[in-house]
Amino acid sequence: MEIRPGRHSDIPLIAAWTQNTFDWGDYVADALPGWLDNPASQVIVAEEDGAVIATVTGTMVSPQELWAQGVRVHTDHRRRGIATAVSNALWQWAREQGAVVARLAIDATNTASEAQAGSMGFHKVCDWRRGERIIGEGSPVPEGNGGRRVPPPERLEVAHSGEAEPAFLSWSTGELARAAHGLLPIGWVWRRMTADHLLLAARNRSLHEGRPGWAIAEVDEDDDMLVVHWMETTRDDAVAMARALVDLAAEARVSEMRIWVPTVEWLEAPFVRLGFEFHTVGVWAKEV
Ligand SMILES: CC(C)(COP(=O)(O)OP(=O)(O)OC[C@H]1O[C@@H](n2cnc3c(N)ncnc32)[C@H](O)[C@@H]1OP(=O)(O)O)[C@@H](O)C(=O)NCCC(=O)NCCS
Repeated sequence: MEIRPGRHSDIPLIAAWTQNTFDWGDYVADALPGWLDNPASQVIVAEEDGAVIATVTGTMVSPQELWAQGVRVHTDHRRRGIATAVSNALWQWAREQGAVVARLAIDATNTASEAQAGSMGFHKVCDWRRGERIIGEGSPVPEGNGGRRVPPPERLEVAHSGEAEPAFLSWSTGELARAAHGLLPIGWVWRRMTADHLLLAARNRSLHEGRPGWAIAEVDEDDDMLVVHWMETTRDDAVAMARALVDLAAEARVSEMRIWVPTVEWLEAPFVRLGFEFHTVGVWAKEV
């Protein structure tokens, strides 16, 4: 068996056996072209008798952090140590890039992957909660801040880049950063959060601010969805923040909304009351 960097000609070979990896399908074949073209990423494959039977991808998300994802082993070749072998090649590449830590995410229902990551020395750093709900027609809970007799709606507005520093200071010294272990998820990729991420979000007009706090929220046009990657608020303002974010989604006229939050009961509860359904994803890490 040869363990080697992936190439574009591997994609159809991998796509052939990764359509139904999970009950919802798989995204790896669609993601591979972008990963192969990204200079910060490395795709590793295992080839045996002309067949590509395993793959994994890593991306340097900062000079010292590797994010690993998309590990797949053909069903006929599992439990032969192949996921571990392609991963070891990836850690080697990551060390050469300067990585000191590798992280990955595992859905809480994927016990095989948890066992395999554990056998490679990964430990779970924290659980994250992904909340989703329909917006607009067909939504379980009507939008809006409430009836006529309640105070005027709390709104979130696009924030100026001058908000990045105070937002980061507030978050990094508070309970939410502790629960998040200092990590920021953007599109299923977690990295250590810095004030620069908020500055970049402000430049992209995805940093929002209001009395209840700050949030990074942006519309994913492909999925017709408002995705909230990050928020900073307090126990007292969490209800107002949840309502303001749902209003933002309604104003954006998207059909769905997704939020990512660390496991903090008071932050999740108002979203549950607004009809969000939650799933758990663990973030795992090891030194490389
Ligand atoms: C998870 C997956 C990548 C593991 O690949 P693999 O090549 O079979 O893993 P390895 O052979 O390297 O496993 C090494 C060790 O991990 C553990 N392990 C792997 N699969 C396991 C399973 N299904 N149940 C329990 N332990 C498991 C075992 O300790 C194993 O050692 P052992 O076989 O000597 O007992 C593979 O099952 C797969 O492709 N699953 C579908 C895709 C997926 O879930 N990807 C991860 C998304 S986060």
